[in-house]
Amino acid sequence: MKSLGNIRRSFAPWTDPAAKPFIAVKNVTKRFGDFTAVDDLSLNIYHREFFALLGASGCGKSTLLRMLAGFEQPTAGEIVLDGTDLAGTPPYKRPVNMMFQSYALFPHMTVEKNIAFGLRQDGMSKDEIGERVLQMLKMVKLEKFAARKPNQLSGGQRQRVALARSLAKRPKVLLLDEPLGALDKKLREETQFELMDLQQNLGLTFVVVTHDQEEAMTMADRIAVMSHGKVVQVATPAEIYEAPNSRFVADFIGDVNIFDGKVTASLGDKVEISVDESLTIRVTGAEPLPVGSAAGFAIRPEKLKVTRTPPANPGINAASGELWDIAYLGDMTVFHVKLKSGKVVKASSLNAQRSVEDPFVYDQEVWVTFAEDAGVVLKD
Ligand SMILES: Nc1ncnc2c1ncn2[C@@H]1O[C@H](COP(=O)(O)OP(=O)(O)O)[C@@H](O)[C@H]1O
Ligand SMILES: [Mg+2]
Repeated sequence: MKSLGNIRRSFAPWTDPAAKPFIAVKNVTKRFGDFTAVDDLSLNIYHREFFALLGASGCGKSTLLRMLAGFEQPTAGEIVLDGTDLAGTPPYKRPVNMMFQSYALFPHMTVEKNIAFGLRQDGMSKDEIGERVLQMLKMVKLEKFAARKPNQLSGGQRQRVALARSLAKRPKVLLLDEPLGALDKKLREETQFELMDLQQNLGLTFVVVTHDQEEAMTMADRIAVMSHGKVVQVATPAEIYEAPNSRFVADFIGDVNIFDGKVTASLGDKVEISVDESLTIRVTGAEPLPVGSAAGFAIRPEKLKVTRTPPANPGINAASGELWDIAYLGDMTVFHVKLKSGKVVKASSLNAQRSVEDPFVYDQEVWVTFAEDAGVVLKD
């Protein structure tokens, strides 16, 4: 496979107002008794998109996925797939398949039989099944393991059998609910890339549920961040990270420092926020806000610079404090700086060189500085 990056970079149907969504979830609500698991949720997913539903446990991700699969019916709203309203279409008639975790494999059947199971149920001919199974085995690189039983495979191999089984019927959409949850970290990372390659090569639409933000960031074209049955933000991983639309998303994805203050000026795309007498934050690329209103400012640790040299403009995007904690993590160092106000901020810096002259030490007086476009204003 070649030049995947270039293909992906130009893949952004959601930015095209004329593009039709492949899956349209329209005002879908799901109640269990008087509990609302999915709350008036709408979103669009495009053909060949790798889409992730990300959120804390219990926020309604699996319920939404199960409604796409047809295992649950919405209490209200509709789900349209490729132009057809899915209400009343049973799971087995939907061009959708759900990949279950590997422990859902039939233990008494060989890998080959596990993969063939759904095809046999559909009454496919023996020759066709043989061909399709071989193709699937090749796809997940398990040709040599066709005759083994699941308990003779490693966790990662079992996961690949589960994947092959769910793709054997060539669904248009594959739904994956925490697909890699049972794998250890290293294997999980490898399998993430395999899944991405597969999705690309087969030209399918994948909807994956995960509570692991790194996993969502790695694999997905777009991420829907969910909370309490609602979608809080839908955007690309970079947008979610660099331009979270709310305090919730800023805090949920990655590490962040949040400063609270009052808007003291707002002109064009520039906003000034006064945090306290020792710190005023100037931001560019912001939406206008009423002067006097409360606002937050979110900035990632790697966008904060720690220096010992006093800045040209002390107090403007620069605050002094003392080095409270230094954590050397190998590839980077994380500094905790206790500002004059008492607030502790986190700053990280890459260790591009093996040794540093005159390194930082605990309790040292330092400045924390940042650029005007390094963070985002939070309205809420
Ligand atoms: N069949 C059900 N009956 C009652 N409550 C349910 C049922 N299925 C899910 N729930 C509740 O709905 C909420 C969302 O569940 P779920 O979609 O599984 O969350 P997630 O996958 O995000 O962890 C949870 O509080 C869960 O207890
Ligand atoms: Mg779940």
